[in-house]
Parts: sequence; C-alpha cells; structure tokens
Amino acid sequence: MCGIIGILGKTDVAPLIVEGLKRLEYRGYDSAGVATVKDGRIDRRRAPGKLSALEGVLKERPLKGAIGIGHTRWATHGAANETNAHPHATRRLALVHNGIIENFAELRRELKEKGYAFESETDTEVCAQLITYYLETENLPPKDAFGKALARIRGAFALAVVFLGEDDLMIGARRGSPLALGRGDGEMFLGSDSYALAPFTNRVTYLEEGDWAVVTRSAFQIYDAAGRPVARPETLSSAADAMVDKDGHRHFMAKEIHQQPEVIAHTLSRYLDPASETVRLPDGSFDFAKLDRLTISACGTAYYAGLVAKYWFETWARLPVEIDIASELRYRAVPYAPGGGALFVSQSGETADTLAALREARRNGQKIAAVVNVLESSIAREADVMFPMAAGPEIGVASTKAFTCQLAALAAVAIAAGRARGVLDETEERRLVRALLGTPRLVAEALKSADRIEKIAEEIARAQDVLYIGRGVSFPLALEGALKLKEISYIHAEGYAAGELKHGPIALIDDAVPVIVIAPSDALYEKTVSNMYEVMARGGRALLISDRKGIAQAGDKVWRAIEAPEVEPMLAPIVYAAPIQLLAYYTATTKGTDVDQPRNLAKSVTVE
Ligand code: F6R
Repeated sequence: MCGIIGILGKTDVAPLIVEGLKRLEYRGYDSAGVATVKDGRIDRRRAPGKLSALEGVLKERPLKGAIGIGHTRWATHGAANETNAHPHATRRLALVHNGIIENFAELRRELKEKGYAFESETDTEVCAQLITYYLETENLPPKDAFGKALARIRGAFALAVVFLGEDDLMIGARRGSPLALGRGDGEMFLGSDSYALAPFTNRVTYLEEGDWAVVTRSAFQIYDAAGRPVARPETLSSAADAMVDKDGHRHFMAKEIHQQPEVIAHTLSRYLDPASETVRLPDGSFDFAKLDRLTISACGTAYYAGLVAKYWFETWARLPVEIDIASELRYRAVPYAPGGGALFVSQSGETADTLAALREARRNGQKIAAVVNVLESSIAREADVMFPMAAGPEIGVASTKAFTCQLAALAAVAIAAGRARGVLDETEERRLVRALLGTPRLVAEALKSADRIEKIAEEIARAQDVLYIGRGVSFPLALEGALKLKEISYIHAEGYAAGELKHGPIALIDDAVPVIVIAPSDALYEKTVSNMYEVMARGGRALLISDRKGIAQAGDKVWRAIEAPEVEPMLAPIVYAAPIQLLAYYTATTKGTDVDQPRNLAKSVTVE
C-alpha cells in the first residue's frame, strides 16, 4: 500500500507531485506529504487525512524546488498523524517508502544505541536513519550509503530518497513493492505505477525485483540486487489513455458499476470468437487435457471470483480445483503435485499475499497462470501465462467491474478447459459461448433496476446487520455482496451458503436483520427459497434477488424483491453482481459514507 512518487523536474515540482499523488491515492489516503530540495536544503509539508488536506497546507505554505518526493499513506506502523506521515527526513535526506520493513525494531534499537533519535513510530524512519548513519559515520557518497543500507533492510518495500545538497540526484529501490521509472525531456520520474507517471511521460522502465536506481535529470543507472549495473527495457505505457473523470456519476464506483456491460464485452472479445462461437486462449496456456488439478488463489473480491470459477472448472471441465485465500495458501504445506497448474486472480496484480502465494506455487513446480487487470503489474509479469481482463483502471476502492471482468475471463478459460478435456462437446461449447456473449446485454438490463434498488437501500441503511445467502455459484456472490456492503457502508454483513444457515447463523435472525437471498431460477432455486422461508418463519425480512419466474414462484410474503434478467444459470454471478453492487452503493450513499475511499482501506494491498 502507500503510493510514492519522485520528480527531477525543470520548475517547482510540488504541484506535479500532488498531481501524481492524486493518481496514487487509491493506494492509501491516511496522510500525505511532499519534500523538495531547493538550493541544497530539504523542506517538507505533510498533513494527516486525504490529499486535499495536504493541498490546503501547500496553498498556505508553498514548497519551492525542482526536485522532490511525495507520498500517500496507508498506515501500517503508527497512527495516521502528521509525525508519522512521509516523507521522513533526517539531517541528510528525505525518504518515502511503500511497504514494510520487517527488521525495523532491531535496526531502530541499534541506531538508537548509536545516538540516532527517532521522531515517528514508523518502520520507515529506520531506512532514513540507516542511510544517514552510513553517510555520516563512513562518509560514504549517497549511492554507496544507500546500497549499504539496502543490504541491511529486510521486508517488502519501494523507496525513493533525495539528499541534502544534491539538486540533481534521487535514488529509488524496489523489493517486493512496485516502482517504475519515467523518462522525460531533461526530466526524470519515479512512481509506484505508470498511472502516476502518465501526466508526465509514457516512457516507462519497470524496476525488477531487487533492483535499485540512481537517477539524475539526464540519465539513470539501474543496479540489480547484487549491485551489478543492469539494463531494463523501456516500454511505452498506455496508462496515459486512462480516463480519470467520473463521467457524470457522483462516484467512481457508480461509473465503474455502469461501465460493466462495455468492459465485460471488451474482456470477452479477448477470448471468444463470435463467428465460430468458440473460445481461444492465449498461447502457452495450460495443457488442460493433461492437468490433474488446478490450484486457484486470490484475496478478497478476486478470491470470490476464483470461488465461482471453481464451480465452473468442476462442472464444465471435471477438473479438480483446490482454492484458498492467498494469505492462507502461502503458508500452508500444500502437497502440490508435480506438473500441476496454479491460477492467481488479481485486479491490481500487486497484492502482496497473492504474489507470495504465486511464488510459493512456482517454487513447488507449478505452472503459473494469472487473471490480471493491470498488465504491467508484478503478477502479470511473473506468470507463465496471462489471462488478461480489460476492465480499464478501477479507481473506486471497492472492486466492481474488475470482479465481473475476472468472472468473464475465468468463464472463458473454464469453457476452453472443458473442451480440451472432452467434457464439453462442440454444441455445448457453442451454447455456453453464446450465453457468455449475451452477458453484457443482461448486465445492462440488470442495471436498469437502479432506481428501485436505491429505494430498497434506504431501508437497508437502517440495519445494523445484514445476511446474504446463496447456493452453488450464488454462494460466492453472497460472500461478495456482504463484503461490498460492509466495506463501503460500514454495516456489519455476512455471506453464507444458504444450506449452512440452520447450522448456526439462523440464531441471528429477527426482524431487524434483513436477509438478502440470491436465487436465480436454477436447479437449486427451490432449496434456497426453502431457506428463505425458514428465515421468514422466524420473523426475518427477506429480500429476494431472482428473475421474474423466481420472484413469482416465491409468492407475495417476501419483504422485497429485485428482479434480474433470466440468464444461463451457471453464468448468473456475472449478471447478479450488478444488483448486489448497486445495493451496497446506494446503502452507502444513503448513509453518506465515503464510497470511493472507505475508511481504513486501500485499493492495492501491497503489504502482508
Ligand atoms: C474489495 C476489494 C478487495 C480486493 C482484494 C484483492 O472490494 O477490492 O477485496 O479484491 O484486495 O485485490 P486485487 O484484485 O488487486 O489482488
């Protein structure tokens, strides 16, 4: 988490740094800060809270200087106050950091014993003090002091440092957290992603794992983890094309929910040939016919997309699937079979646990595939085969369009697997491809219920607890619905497999706890609706999300109903995601919470 940026510019850089930070705010927004070097002196401004607070400070006390660094924070060590805000400065330098320094306590102790005083509670400050120690006691030049400090620091991080007396020098490092270098005309840029650099340049060089770079306005030199000079390719980033306005919507989340028909269609166009009604997978994909087992892993919403895909791979391809949350999978003693396949799902492609689980699977001889949105991300680059999604930049912290695009890509891959394994014949493949091609239209239809959902949300907003239930492919959607509601409306919500309700959670039911029942007309409809009646029999208020037939069949005792279009049952999650997302969205807007940047969250979780 946290976003960092550094600019060696031609004029005052503080306003440019703020512009870049706006594009990094999705990575954290607990506090922000900027430091510049002017006439050899370091000066900084910091403010707790969102970037707008820092902008206010900079307006009152502008910062001069043509070289500087900036930071937007997601707090790990120490509260979100000004003292803990980055950049952290010492007598000799200022530094910004994204990630975690694992051995900070030990280094802090050591430095304190040597007389170094710490002003913040952060792990970051040890990096600043350690480099300073090598500058001062060993009289090393900045590059050597930085290199020496880097060798002592353990953890996953990206760093950018400016030095007292150095108007044309910045040093950055990447270990576990992403860092990109941008080349301008007599200017250079460092940033957590190419998106932050997009207003300034599209010539981007990604540092590889363990790399660090010494940067001046005219050139940069990259070193690998062993300190050897290395060359990394420059790419032309497409991030500059990214639209960052809300398109007339109140929030990015609303825009992104409504973009779904278009971006799902884009994603599907990467896999489906509408003329032949077949699926084409990228070259080098899994040899599904030979695969004995597939491991799927991800975090949060992406995990729920993977959980839906488990049902698809099992049903359409009869492929055994092991699925786990990445933060668990990475530490389990999984008995990976030699030659197996592992599939990781991630919007950002930078989620620390997912990346670590991927590396663990690789160490265990698995072939690695990834469904990723950010094509230049670490996960995309480390995978053997990439299944791209085409959701475009997702700015709202709560994932919406990325979820449905993940589903779209995974459905295509699962159908291809089914065909390769001889479980689906040509006719069945064509039927499923037709159904999948129809999902963008059905999502557009589902979005038409927005006004009705907004009214229902006004009632949900009064609840303190909400339960979601579903069966089969609707079970992961129940989990996703609960996650969406809690993260943006702060209402406590849980998702359950409908059949599990009577094994405990039903004790929670009374008329104050709405139960959202996701039950498309499929083979499991009656079972789920029976569970809904059990809720109603105990005074619970049931909100049924189903198609016309399902709603009619459920009778008129149901508290509220939201109609969704009829869809091939296995693909229902792609379409039913829309009402689920709208319900969370309008509940949050009714409550007046910060929908795009909910408290305590960050878009890209680059720490464990
Ligand atoms: C919830 C949400 C998170 C992410 C999770 C994984 O709305 O956005 O649960 O899905 O942090 O992120 P990615 O997909 O970037 O790996």
